[in-house]
Amino acid sequence: MSIESLKSLFRPELAELSAYRVPPSPPAVKLDANESPWTLPPEARARVASVMHTAEINRYPDGRAVELRKALAWGLGGSKDEYVLGAGSDELISLMATAMSAPRAGRERPVVVFPEPTFVMYRMTSRAHGWQTMGVPLDDHWDLDADAMAAAIEEAEPNLVYYATPNNPTGNCFSRDRIEALVNGFPNTLHVIDEAYGAYSGQSFASLCEETPQCALLGTLSKVGFAGIRVGWVRLDEALSAELEKVRQPFNLSTPSQMVATLALTDFAPLLEDHITTIVSERERLATELDGHGALTCFPSDSNFLLVHYSGDVPELCAALLDREIAVRQFAGGNERLRSCIRITIGTPEENQRLIEAVGDILG
Ligand SMILES: Cc1ncc(COP(=O)(O)O)c(C=O)c1O
Repeated sequence: MSIESLKSLFRPELAELSAYRVPPSPPAVKLDANESPWTLPPEARARVASVMHTAEINRYPDGRAVELRKALAWGLGGSKDEYVLGAGSDELISLMATAMSAPRAGRERPVVVFPEPTFVMYRMTSRAHGWQTMGVPLDDHWDLDADAMAAAIEEAEPNLVYYATPNNPTGNCFSRDRIEALVNGFPNTLHVIDEAYGAYSGQSFASLCEETPQCALLGTLSKVGFAGIRVGWVRLDEALSAELEKVRQPFNLSTPSQMVATLALTDFAPLLEDHITTIVSERERLATELDGHGALTCFPSDSNFLLVHYSGDVPELCAALLDREIAVRQFAGGNERLRSCIRITIGTPEENQRLIEAVGDILG
């Protein structure tokens, strides 16, 4: 009885959500989470070890993460005070939902708009914070439906709009002119452009962010080799970043995370560039190979994964791959348009070859 009464204290919106689940023991070839397939080579690990050697882990981390924010400003532009840091960009999505939640006049709840399908945490996190969410279907090419987005923003007056470009799970970039028109057309909303996969597209909205205070950029190290250290950021106008800082836990980024992230953005930058170049060329090779099977069609990708349409039974194909120790992502129960699709992260050339052979084995 007391459990029931304690459960009644949780936000009612949680009843409609499920916790984000990660499979327990990863198979040999893990192509399901859009991570980089490479850990650091021995020389870079030695460099991490020597830097870590100096860490005073008896002390709290630098709560302002000065070195890391300087490295971000150096690498990505702007001033260090435009950057707010989080344990992955997931934490920034949560911080923005906490901080920017004043409902507009005449509305009961704050509203967030995003195209769909997209990264599920925009919806989940916003709902968990009591926001109203509005998903606007992408067009037939997985691009923004500019008119429908404009109509939704006009009607709902959202506090936030999210655009992941390249988008997860569709893999493509949205048309730049459509994003620019929405950002410029609705200056009283914060437009958050999520560039989690930007390294693989070679595109950035940094200049738009510099020109317009209603534009923020979300970024992360997770997709370029550092998912394990959990470092993400949002870059936004200093007046807004100062407000967001008020809800950030002061020591949300550990000393090791700050140290490794600073190396990633400085000394390791050439290594990351090499990895990115290899992934992009492997992406094209894998797409050509998979498209060679009549049953599979790869959508164009600007990221480190491919969304692949399969005309057969998706769960059966995924199970057959898992039997061969290869994990890919399927979307059972999610967006209807994704049910006939699988998402495959680009692995090392050897892993991709293993996938190509396994698919050949299964589909004949
Ligand atoms: C579009 C997009 N944004 C943000 C994230 C979150 O990344 P992290 O919290 O690891 O920085 C992901 C992770 O899959 C993503 O796909």
